[in-house]
Amino acid sequence: MSSCPLPSRISLNNHLFESGVSDELRHLINDIARAGKYVQNAIRTTDLGLAGSSNTFGEDQLKLDVLSNRIVKEELCESRLVCCFASEEESDQLQELVPDAPFTVVFDPLDGSSLVDSNLAIGSIFGIYSAQGKLLGKKPRDQMAAMYLVYGPRTILVYSAGKGTHAFYLNEVGEFTLLQKNLTMRDEVKTYAPGNLRAVVDTPAYRTMMDLWLDEGLTLRYSGGMVPDIHHMLIKGAGIFTNIGGSKYPKGKLRLLYECGPFAYLMEQAGGASSDGEKSILDIDIVDLDQRTPIIIGARGEVKRVAKILRS
Ligand code: AHG
Ligand code: MN
Ligand code: MN
Repeated sequence: MSSCPLPSRISLNNHLFESGVSDELRHLINDIARAGKYVQNAIRTTDLGLAGSSNTFGEDQLKLDVLSNRIVKEELCESRLVCCFASEEESDQLQELVPDAPFTVVFDPLDGSSLVDSNLAIGSIFGIYSAQGKLLGKKPRDQMAAMYLVYGPRTILVYSAGKGTHAFYLNEVGEFTLLQKNLTMRDEVKTYAPGNLRAVVDTPAYRTMMDLWLDEGLTLRYSGGMVPDIHHMLIKGAGIFTNIGGSKYPKGKLRLLYECGPFAYLMEQAGGASSDGEKSILDIDIVDLDQRTPIIIGARGEVKRVAKILRS
């Protein structure tokens, strides 16, 4: 019989262990969590200006974008568990770290760059795949785990390794401690978060959707950061988030690999749904590292309704 005392708090490591996550995946998730602590420290302490460079999407990079990317890469390298990675900040190619290692990691080290100067919440997003087989040709459903960190007044980490979606907060001594296990989406919508709203100009069905939400008296909860905006729904257990195609972004603004895929995994593990208008985001073939997709994500029934209206 074990003489371990019953824990007075449940750490991320403990939760992973008790959930039966494999040792290798548990180590990797812990390593990524540590990267997140360094990123949150960088957010508090780094000069907020432009780095003078642009990423592969041609977007200006902040010093913080470049630094967060470096921090995550360093931690992935140190873990010795990552064969390959692709980052939103340099998404032109899959890069190799340790050839025989078991995992491929895709990530957006800092999502919501345009919110940094206004001091709104931002985040980091990760998807973990097996390193076996080519990444191109897989689907987000093949992820073994997904996680994000949201850097707001508190730092919160949410992960799923295929057994529910669970939230942890960074406590006063720097450890991720269980905040809420099994986040659960009800089939309910009180709030809406309509991204790429400029699309209403050339996608009339999106305007129809907006009008419905206005008429139904829903509350707008939209910060312009995918991480806090979807986190809000997961924590409240209700809501709908969209970033659909039209206008400046014909296929929506968000990327399948780095942004939509991980969130679709976390949302479906919490009992919610995701769609590109036709099928689950988890069932889209990954054909390009930087491919974009429209996304409708949140409470099941509402995801269905929005997809139907957008198809009409
Ligand atoms: P980035 O990765 O360049 O920081 O972009 C942030 C994303 C995402 O977080 C958010 O949901 C979306 O941009 C906002 O787009 P809209 O301007 O269309 O609302
Ligand atoms: Mn992003
Ligand atoms: Mn980014």
